[in-house]
Amino acid sequence: MLVVVHEDYGALSKKGAEIIASRIRQKPNLVLGLATGSTPLGLYKELIKLHKNEGLDFSKVVTFNLDEYVGIPPEHDQSYHYFMRENLFKSININPSNIHVPQGMFGELKISSFETDPKIVQFCDWYEGEIHRYGGVDVQVLGIGGNGHIAFNEPGSSLGSRTRIKTLTEETVKDNSRLFKSTADVPRYAITMGVGTIMEAHELLLLASGEGKAEAVRSAVEGPITAMCPASALQLHRRAIVLTDKKAAARLSAEFVTYG
Ligand code: GLP
Repeated sequence: MLVVVHEDYGALSKKGAEIIASRIRQKPNLVLGLATGSTPLGLYKELIKLHKNEGLDFSKVVTFNLDEYVGIPPEHDQSYHYFMRENLFKSININPSNIHVPQGMFGELKISSFETDPKIVQFCDWYEGEIHRYGGVDVQVLGIGGNGHIAFNEPGSSLGSRTRIKTLTEETVKDNSRLFKSTADVPRYAITMGVGTIMEAHELLLLASGEGKAEAVRSAVEGPITAMCPASALQLHRRAIVLTDKKAAARLSAEFVTYG
């Protein structure tokens, strides 16, 4: 695992965009895994700049998003469909038919048996199949939750898990409530790629910024590999790059990291 510590959020966002841009230049039909949350916002702004100023071409790029809340429609301003449209897709020349964001609306669900709900199971299998059909994800962008989650794989998620429905932890609901009118409005369930799905990407690019992520980054990079910190699975990946700012790296052993 390559851990690169940057001066600040701006520098890590630029570095992330440079890496993705170079992969797109090498392979114009790159299969790019995308994440939501506040962390990749700077990266997306940099990619938009590269598109507008340097002609970075997304016309053949295929994207797969990690996750989506269950029960809020794509036009809802807190859905991940909306987030991606507003913060990236509407500002680059991506072909809409190359965009994949998990479905979040399934009609009435029986919460007691949603894990076996045929509509959900069928969708999740289809999503995995689509990733496979495109030859797998080339580069997967990841953020990290304060509790070490990646996508919506909360602590305790199997490190071999596949795309499925997950219940969000109270901590995640609380963290994400800043973006909703009230905590009661935050969805409790999400469709998410599994840790196993993520680990099959050819390259992983995890971004972390701010002191609120320092403990999660330490556990992911230096802690034991455990389902209690799903991001620690990255230690098993052959091409995992962790880009942090100084604050998020504050609890790492200094000799372990390189500086960007
Ligand atoms: C959500 C997303 C994750 C993201 C995390 C951290 O839970 N499902 O993919 O990494 O939030 O978000 P932020 O970058 O806003 O801290």
